[in-house]
Amino acid sequence: MSHSLPKVELHLHLEGAAPPALIRAMAQERNEDLSGIFDESGNYSYRDFWDFLRVYEAATSVLRTPADYYRLTRAVLEECVNSGVIYVESFLSPDFCGGRDVVAWRDYLGAIREAAEEARRQDGIEMRGIVTAIRHFGPEKARETALCAAETAGDFITGFGLAGDETMGRPRDFAWSFDCAREAGLRLTAHAGEWGGPDSVAAVIDDLRVERIGHGVRAIEDLALVERIAEAGIVLEVCPGSNIALGVYPDWRSHPIEKLRERGVKVTVSTDDPPFFHTTMIREYRMLVDTFGWDESDLSELALNAARAAFCDEQTRAAVL
Ligand code: ADE
Ligand code: ZN
Repeated sequence: MSHSLPKVELHLHLEGAAPPALIRAMAQERNEDLSGIFDESGNYSYRDFWDFLRVYEAATSVLRTPADYYRLTRAVLEECVNSGVIYVESFLSPDFCGGRDVVAWRDYLGAIREAAEEARRQDGIEMRGIVTAIRHFGPEKARETALCAAETAGDFITGFGLAGDETMGRPRDFAWSFDCAREAGLRLTAHAGEWGGPDSVAAVIDDLRVERIGHGVRAIEDLALVERIAEAGIVLEVCPGSNIALGVYPDWRSHPIEKLRERGVKVTVSTDDPPFFHTTMIREYRMLVDTFGWDESDLSELALNAARAAFCDEQTRAAVL
């Protein structure tokens, strides 16, 4: 059932979706030893979220040139197509693509767009980019990232976001960057409620004025906040497989996606960093069916919520709907 359903994915980190085989091949081409970040089966290996961030950044360190990002984007979109994804929004990081230099960033973006355009022609998949600042790199670098986002805002770069270690800094430290992105016409999302509790979720709503939240699931610890999110129509980019792999929740049964939905929150489902978490969109859908007994109409609702919340033009939305 879940193979054939058209899927819409709103929360996918481009580097986090890099197939380990691609990263290994690139490391070998460059004579670099990255063996420490893989297990015996060739998968990414990490102990916890903070170690995951270290391994993520080590893997990303072999992606050097725009041509590397072209290869990466082609490989990632191929995996999306294999899961039946027809529209995907990916977090893109000028921190890794040219060190937040606008001129260099344009080159990387050009390569990513070329790959996206070819995938669209070949497989019909639509991609949009959300330029994303990394919280643990600090507010100063986030400002430079926001300027890269504002300079390239348009039909492909349609959003601005914040990822990384939610336990570092406060959302309000990033308000300038979010204001800058909003003024450039970008739509806004921020990671919260993954490692932080309800206060962290409320802070991105109040201080960054986001319309979507990456994860947001720990809002469930404050039912008044859940009601506020539902009433405001703020959409959660829920990534259950990621939360379970990283230990936010011990198992699928304990995941709050069902409770959030029952309380009227608009939920969507994504994979976050699929090879790190041994997941795909097909697996996420299958686990929702197996765990909560969701049927085809429940799954279609996920895709519909995602299509409605997508940061794209109305013509593209109509084609996805
Ligand atoms: N960057 C990539 N994956 C992430 C996650 N799950 N949380 C925060 N930042 C991330
Ligand atoms: Zn994420």
